[in-house]
Parts: sequence; structure tokens; C-alpha cells
Amino acid sequence: MDDLRDKYLGLISGASDEATLEDLRVQAVGKKGEISLKMRELGKMSPEERQTAGPALNALKAEINSALLAKKAALEDAALDERLRGEWLDVTLPGRARRQGTIHPISQVTEEVTAIFADMGFAVAEGPQIDSDWYNFDALNIPGHHPARAEMDTFYMHRATGDNRPPHVLRTHTSPVQIRTMEKTGAPIRVIAPGRVYRADYDQTHTPMFHQVEGLAIDRDISMANLKWVLEEFVKAYFEVDDVELRFRASHFPFTEPSAEVDIRCSWEEGTLKVGEGDDWLEILGSGMVHPKVLENAGVNPDEWQGFAFGMGIDRIAMLKYGIPDLRAFFDSDLRWLRHYGFAALDVPTLHGGLS
Ligand code: DAH
Repeated sequence: MDDLRDKYLGLISGASDEATLEDLRVQAVGKKGEISLKMRELGKMSPEERQTAGPALNALKAEINSALLAKKAALEDAALDERLRGEWLDVTLPGRARRQGTIHPISQVTEEVTAIFADMGFAVAEGPQIDSDWYNFDALNIPGHHPARAEMDTFYMHRATGDNRPPHVLRTHTSPVQIRTMEKTGAPIRVIAPGRVYRADYDQTHTPMFHQVEGLAIDRDISMANLKWVLEEFVKAYFEVDDVELRFRASHFPFTEPSAEVDIRCSWEEGTLKVGEGDDWLEILGSGMVHPKVLENAGVNPDEWQGFAFGMGIDRIAMLKYGIPDLRAFFDSDLRWLRHYGFAALDVPTLHGGLS
């Protein structure tokens, strides 16, 4: 029995995998295993012999079984360790290279403007980029002979011959969205309408497609004072300064009466713009009180309702805030430019989290 014990304990401790271990189990304590066969021989023994051989065989069987179990557990542990070593993964490594793409400054500034006006209760309205003569001009109190039509270098859409209705145009400004919004929702209204506009013009500060944001607030007693406050709040938030000074310059737009162009106090030091200080003035938008005829054209009763409107160039305020010298580069799709002036994809501008 000592020989059997030495043999099997030795083989078990040397086994290198579970299959070998299972073979050993069958050989030793399986139905026809060496120890099981020895147990069958107990019946042929004398009672005295049986009394010592029986318990000894049982003890040997138990010892071999527990050696098998212990070895099995050790092999499993070793296999797990091996697997963990092979499959180890540093989850703190970055999943992808950073900044594969960037947010275009126009998208970024549109989001910034939207966040600021949303905070003051303005919703976002939209209109088509191809619009009728009526919405782009007539409804805004710009009749056919008006010089503003020529000034705007309008792109006209081609019409099939024989059709003598006026052609559609690529909208020259976002102001037609004022009319569409008043028609759709009626007063009161508080919206901004950012979007693309088109004019046949091309130089360092003009491209045939550019972006504007229109503002419109209509209620029973809205005045120029409200306009001034809203614009001051906007300029402070947008340029991220505590104090600004706005200058309202009397102007003329067919769709507002009175009309004002708005400048902000600034300085240019070594080509860098500082808003809120200095002796220069920077024109940033056109505005005024919505002309009663415009309200009427859009189905809003001018005896009951009044309000302000403004229109601002998004590209222009993007160039000013982020020091971008040439507008044309915005639309060149040059990856080096986009990497330089673009914004990280997850930096969504909010008033609480920071705009830029
Ligand atoms: N639509 C004008 C333009 O494109 C900008 C503008 C001026 C819009 C005054 C307005 C406004 O709403 O009141 O030049």
C-alpha cells in the first residue's frame, strides 16, 4: 500500500493538465482502478487481515481523492493566472487618437449665440434657403423698385420660360424668417433664426454664402429699451466681458422704424480686439422696431402688437471673437485651417459650462 501511495501521489503532483489527472483518477480509484481492485480483494481476506487492510485502503482512497482535488484546483488557478496575464488590458489608455475632427467655428459660434439667447427665452426658428420674392423682399417692405434689392446682389433662381411669376431667390438675409414665424405662430414671439444667406460678392470679408442670425421679439409693449438690454446682455456673454458700451446709430432699413445700427466700444492693440474699452467702435448689427407694414404683411395687428428685430453676421462675429482674418478661409475646407481654428467635438457651449 505504501508503494501505491508513493506511486499515485508522485504521479498526481507531476501531472501537468486536467486530462492527465482524470486518467490518473480512473487508474487509481475508478471502478477498475488499482485501489478499487484491492478493495474487492478484501472479501477473500481473513477477518483479522480485513480489519487492518479495510480502513487502510479507505484512508488511501480518501488521500488520493483529496490529492486529485487539490491538484485540480491548483491547475485551474494556474490556467486562470495564465489567461489574466495574456488578456490584460490597460483601460486607462485612450480609445482613439484625440481630435480626429473639429467643430467648425461657424457651428461653434451658432451654438454659442443660441445658448445665450435661449437663456433669455428665445427659441430657434428656421426658414428655407430658397425663398420667394415675397418673403425675401415685399413682405419686408422692400418693393420691386427699392434700391435695397440692387444693393443685395441677389441670386435669382432660373424659371421656365412662359411663366411670368417673379422668380424665387436664394435668400439674401434671414429676415424672411420673421415673416414666416409671425404667420405661423402669431404674437407674442421671441425667436432667433440663424442660418445661411447668399449674395453675389467675394473679397476678404465677403463670400457668396455666409451666415446671419435674425432676432425677433413681439409683444404688447416691447420698446427700444428692451432691444438695448437684450443686445447688451448678448454682447457681454458672447465676448465674455463684464462691461460693454453700445452705441445706437440712426440708420435706415425698410423693415424697421426707427432703425439703428449698433456699434460696440473696443480697442485694437497690435491687431487684437478688446471689447468694452478703447476709442474705437465696431459695427456688429442692424436693428430697429418692426415696421407696422411688416407686422400687417405677416398677419399681426400693429395696433395691438409691437416689437424689435435685429440681424447680425455670424461669420463676422466669429472672425472678431476668434481673431480669424479672412472670411474666405472659412469655406475652403482646408484641414490645417480646420485643425487650427476648429473646436474639440465635445466642448458644447453652455452659459454654465463656458462658451469657448
Ligand atoms: N436684414 C438685414 C441685412 O441683411 C439686417 C437687419 C437689419 C435685420 C435690421 C433686421 C433689422 O432684423 O431690424 O442687412
